[in-house]
Amino acid sequence: MEIEKAVKGRRSIRMFKPDEVPQEIIREILDEARWSPSWGNTQPWELYVVTGDTLERFKKANRQKSLDGEVASSEITMPEVWPDNLKKRYTGVGKSVLTSLSIAREDVDGRNAYYGDMFNLFGAPCMILACLDKSLNIEYAMLDVGLIMQTICLLAHDKGLGTCMLAASVRYPGLLRDMLPIPEDRVIVIGTAMGYPDLEAPVNNFERKRADLDEMVTWVS
Ligand SMILES: Cc1cc2nc3c(=O)[nH]c(=O)nc-3n(C[C@H](O)[C@H](O)[C@H](O)COP(=O)(O)O)c2cc1C
Repeated sequence: MEIEKAVKGRRSIRMFKPDEVPQEIIREILDEARWSPSWGNTQPWELYVVTGDTLERFKKANRQKSLDGEVASSEITMPEVWPDNLKKRYTGVGKSVLTSLSIAREDVDGRNAYYGDMFNLFGAPCMILACLDKSLNIEYAMLDVGLIMQTICLLAHDKGLGTCMLAASVRYPGLLRDMLPIPEDRVIVIGTAMGYPDLEAPVNNFERKRADLDEMVTWVS
């Protein structure tokens, strides 16, 4: 696939088919993604591929915590406030998602069910979880994690798979620590849901927006 087509065609998938992703394909994606750049070629990312019964148990428990309204305890700081223009974009994507699912703003039960589904990783049969060694300068190493995650998402897209990077996958890290062999001195950063996309689902087809180039670029010569 051409790079431009891959970059523009990748989108966050919020409804997956239950079909498992063959392990050889996941391995191929990760093997290719190893070529992502990183600070001084340090390659600080530590990845866990979570599938099968373990993932099903995690999704169920994660969803339940969300439905119970349990307070999140992410191991990395997550943003809670934004400048107005960014906040508008954030609420904008939320509105597009709910509208595509025909969930009205005032439908609290509908919204909660949707959030439950998000914490259920939208039904994905695979999650790639990234951790970092706590002794690193985490702020900078986060760039490296972002780079490999985007590379993974693009490669997955190229192979007909869908992905969604999900803060919702790491808001209750205690669950992950109970189920996965993550050493104490590692920090849980982000999980990406992966699986075959339901291409017909409106939630995977709504029009996405991006800021105009002039809003983000200053040309200097
Ligand atoms: C670090 C990160 C965390 C994200 N967490 C979530 C999440 O918890 N729930 C969700 O629905 N989407 C999540 N997303 C997806 C973004 O909403 C999405 O990338 C953005 O709206 C742009 O849309 P696109 O990916 O379809 O181009 C996350 C994306 C990133 C990069």
